[in-house]
Amino acid sequence: MSKVTISSLQKMKDEHKRFGTITAYDAAFASLFDSCGVPALLVGDSLGMVMQGRESTIGVTIEDMAYHTACVARSVKNSLVIADMSFMTYDTPEKACLNAAKLMEAGASVVKIEGGDWLAPVVERLLHNGVPVCAHIGLTPQFVNVFGGYKIQGRGEENAKRLLDAALALEAAGACLLVAECVPADLGTLLARSLKIPVIGIGAGNGTDGQILVMHDAFGITPGHTPKFARNFLAETGDMRKAVELYLSEVESGAFPNHQQSFS
Ligand code: KIV
Repeated sequence: MSKVTISSLQKMKDEHKRFGTITAYDAAFASLFDSCGVPALLVGDSLGMVMQGRESTIGVTIEDMAYHTACVARSVKNSLVIADMSFMTYDTPEKACLNAAKLMEAGASVVKIEGGDWLAPVVERLLHNGVPVCAHIGLTPQFVNVFGGYKIQGRGEENAKRLLDAALALEAAGACLLVAECVPADLGTLLARSLKIPVIGIGAGNGTDGQILVMHDAFGITPGHTPKFARNFLAETGDMRKAVELYLSEVESGAFPNHQQSFS
């Protein structure tokens, strides 16, 4: 595999090739995933739960994100490194630029931000300063206190339209990727068909262009509650490398996620 860029992911979408991506937080796992040919790794602020034992992503700092991004970026040869901007670090375009710089300096190639159409000016400013942006809509974990828990988003015609409009606005502002989390499968498919940029789903059915899984969900070692859309690929294979390869091939064939691992 050669070095993956946002153009490589766009090409996969244009050629209707589904792709799997996974989170990574440290050198050892990043190196394993990279050598298995995972096209993109997300240094997710889910590290708040899986690495730091927190109940949510709210307490994760941009310094935490930069530290883990550097650990991942140093050991990756080909995978594209996407890093999450942490809670309240991108509420203005100016703050977003200052904080995105920390992640880019740590080795990220794309930053991810959570929220809707109100983030369009942030996306534009980052792009104008050389920072590609992955937008994240649906069940955006940084909004857990606004949502009143981890609840499926985009159910019903009006809510689905609001998310579709947000996705289109973020794409128009220059986002190069979109993550859709915990939305009904038909909305996941609609987003992928309506947007030109790759749409990566998690709990969004198998009609999206790509999938992302928290690595702990793929290995069956999630602390606390395991989400409905997770699948323990390690239990099925008994080997970490084979588990990652199985995950990639099941995404590529459309076998993962199946109906039970999706929301209707
Ligand atoms: O932080 C994270 O791991 C994420 C994924 C769940 C998409 O944002």
